[in-house]
Amino acid sequence: MKPHPIRRTLAATAVLMLAGTASAGEIEVLHWWTSGGEAKAAQALKATLQAKGHVWKDFAVAGGGGDAAMTVLKSRVVSGNAPAAAQIKGPSLQEWAAEGVLANIDDVAKADKWDDALPKVVSDVMKHKGHYIAVPVNVHRVNWLWLNPAAFQKAGAKPPTTWDEFFVAAEALKKAGIVPIAHGGQNWQDLTTFETVALGVGGGEFYRKALVQLDPAALKSPTMEKVLATYKRIKDYTDKGAPGRDWNLATAMVIKGEAAMQIMGDWAKGEFIAAGKVPGKDFACMAAPGTAKAFTFNVDSFAMFKLKNEANTKAQKDLAAAILSPEFQETFSLNKGSIPVRLNVKMDRFDDCAKLSSRDFVDTAKAGTLLPSLAHGMAAAPATEGALKDAVSQFWNSDKMSPKEAMEKIAAAARTK
Ligand code: BGC
Repeated sequence: MKPHPIRRTLAATAVLMLAGTASAGEIEVLHWWTSGGEAKAAQALKATLQAKGHVWKDFAVAGGGGDAAMTVLKSRVVSGNAPAAAQIKGPSLQEWAAEGVLANIDDVAKADKWDDALPKVVSDVMKHKGHYIAVPVNVHRVNWLWLNPAAFQKAGAKPPTTWDEFFVAAEALKKAGIVPIAHGGQNWQDLTTFETVALGVGGGEFYRKALVQLDPAALKSPTMEKVLATYKRIKDYTDKGAPGRDWNLATAMVIKGEAAMQIMGDWAKGEFIAAGKVPGKDFACMAAPGTAKAFTFNVDSFAMFKLKNEANTKAQKDLAAAILSPEFQETFSLNKGSIPVRLNVKMDRFDDCAKLSSRDFVDTAKAGTLLPSLAHGMAAAPATEGALKDAVSQFWNSDKMSPKEAMEKIAAAARTK
């Protein structure tokens, strides 16, 4: 007997629906990309996943630098309700993996030859005991100075390449009624400025000894004293509104010309671009004073959590594969202000800031001055980094603490395990 036409259609629909449920998974992604440029970049990730037929569940926790996001993540994982993927970076990936909650994504990595496609300094961090547990997204450079050329022109000031020049320019800008440096007084921003000054004043070797190896002798050296004194001098050129200000609002001051400079990683470029500003015309980038021959890197990455549901696991693997596709690498970094982490992605569509970053990433790796950013989770375990953030912030905010006292506090914080 021939099946009834309606029954036949129903059966076909059922097959289709089954196919649909088998491949469409839901993927919950925790991140802290909520500013203008960041949100555009996150949107690119969402669109990529949706194009594969999956459902994106956004788990955004606002707060630059990600401390708030990490607190929320911990409570979710402890209660047995981990998201599929979370923005976790650097050494803290090892801590999460040691808890046994991360998934092995070697199959995706093998199929796409991640070992060949990534710089080794990056792929090593994405593995736990030799197995991939995370996927890198991009490379941010932290040691940047962002400038508003019109503000410099108005003040008759020259973009600074040394710290001495920086203070000359800052004085001229102040006289012209322009806030010389846009700062957001939050501990991670205080540490971002501090590590950049440490690199500029002390050089690459000093940075490595003091802020990566946390060598007590370097942390309590005359160089460190000079770094701290220079750092504190910058505060005289920030405005009264700085305490507590979000980093993107500081960038907005430079965009509007209320302030002339910001020391910040190149996610700040994402803000200029999202505001329709043109690099080299409306804003400029240069390596922060004294740091042109070095590169403090900050690699964003997503750790993948163990999941039970098969369709969701498939969606998770699709996400991991999509993140490293050359097309996504380009689109994402164009919005985010970073450069692709995958090797050999074409840079034609990128601006001069990104091209410089890309060249310097390679050159500094050869010269031994490619250094992990302490303030952005690349250099120390989270507890140590947290203690250092607090110690440096205390010094920044205190009217009484001398650089000598600060050195003792910072050296003590460096011993936090
Ligand atoms: C992250 C960036 C982010 C920035 C500001 C950094 O630690 O790596 O992706 O844009 O914080 O939130």
